[in-house]
Amino acid sequence: MSSLFSPIQLGHLQLNNRVAMAPMTRARIQNAQDAADENTAIYYQQRASAGLLTTEGSPISRQGQGFLYIPGIYNRQHVHGWQQTTKAVHEKGGKIFIQLWHVGRMSHTSLQPEGQSPVSSVDTQANGTCFAFDENGEAGRVAVSSARGLTVAEIKDVIADYVKAAKYAIDAGFDGVEIHAANGYLIEQFINAGINTRSDSYGAQTIDNRLRFALEVTDAVCNAIGSDRTGIRISPFGRFSDMPAFDDEELTWTTLGQELATRNLAYVHLNNQDVPDGSTTLPDGFVEKFRAAYKGVLMIAGGFDKSSAERYLSTGMVDMVAFGRPYIGNPDLVERMANGWPLNESIREFFYGGDNRGYIDYPYYQQK
Ligand SMILES: Cc1cc2nc3c(=O)[nH]c(=O)nc-3n(C[C@H](O)[C@H](O)[C@H](O)COP(=O)(O)O)c2cc1C
Repeated sequence: MSSLFSPIQLGHLQLNNRVAMAPMTRARIQNAQDAADENTAIYYQQRASAGLLTTEGSPISRQGQGFLYIPGIYNRQHVHGWQQTTKAVHEKGGKIFIQLWHVGRMSHTSLQPEGQSPVSSVDTQANGTCFAFDENGEAGRVAVSSARGLTVAEIKDVIADYVKAAKYAIDAGFDGVEIHAANGYLIEQFINAGINTRSDSYGAQTIDNRLRFALEVTDAVCNAIGSDRTGIRISPFGRFSDMPAFDDEELTWTTLGQELATRNLAYVHLNNQDVPDGSTTLPDGFVEKFRAAYKGVLMIAGGFDKSSAERYLSTGMVDMVAFGRPYIGNPDLVERMANGWPLNESIREFFYGGDNRGYIDYPYYQQK
């Protein structure tokens, strides 16, 4: 039986434990280049005892951006910025993947190059908001703009952006990348049959067509940096970002699992989203079915604490557990869980944006 604190092989890496820090946008970047800075490095270094850190979502292009004050991975300044983080984490013996993010339709013209419309699988407008500039130039939550569907030639350009970003990530010293195919962003806007009504080979008629973009991105990134440096995050049945339910939903995700299983990836990461009524989105029995389709390293996130993580691991259904909110307030989460020490509260008010308060000032546990 594997415990949270037992080592695991992940691609080319030996991890010290099975605890991952889930990707979390913190919106703390205040420089004009949108480059990770010295505080980003401190934040991740403080958490380096996780078996694996995954960074906040990092846009692969200006077009892929749907949030202000977040660090990009699409130019040399971004590479230099992130180098501080990877060096700081590696000095502490940690391992770190960067999450590659394209939000698709979940953006606003004020964030897009030359104020253009955001892009998606089809012409569409989500019922939702993003963090951008309003009509007075003030930063805040605004309704997302209407998006236009990408042409096939433009889809190839976006895939090329993922490849460029993955190569920049390796230049920046990351141990690998996590493709963000979760939470209703661009890749899921292709997978979801309720959104994707295209009539071409990326279109809705078949599951293979709707998975094509996800798999082409995955293959292109694997070719560029190696499959053992490539992970992917998905959120089956997730409803964030106005994702509708659709026919064949389970079969779509298990088919994706079977396809990913042939690619020898570092890992697949399932995000079990919260629902406001207190439940979560993965239906009973789904993880077992996904596990039957995907035999590689499987990680799960969503509402875990030490005991539920241990219980889940002991079933063999997953190999690692990622923690999100508990990591905000507890840089030494691994040590706290291993020793049964109490956790700090993660204060919601400081989750997104602001200064270093609630970011790099949470204390380590002090033994009396
Ligand atoms: C402040 C905050 C920012 C987040 N940003 C991201 C993100 O950039 N990418 C992503 O895939 N998930 C993001 N998530 C979701 C988390 O990775 C995680 O799946 C979620 O918080 C559930 O895990 P938890 O119950 O352990 O917090 C974010 C969550 C929080 C609380």
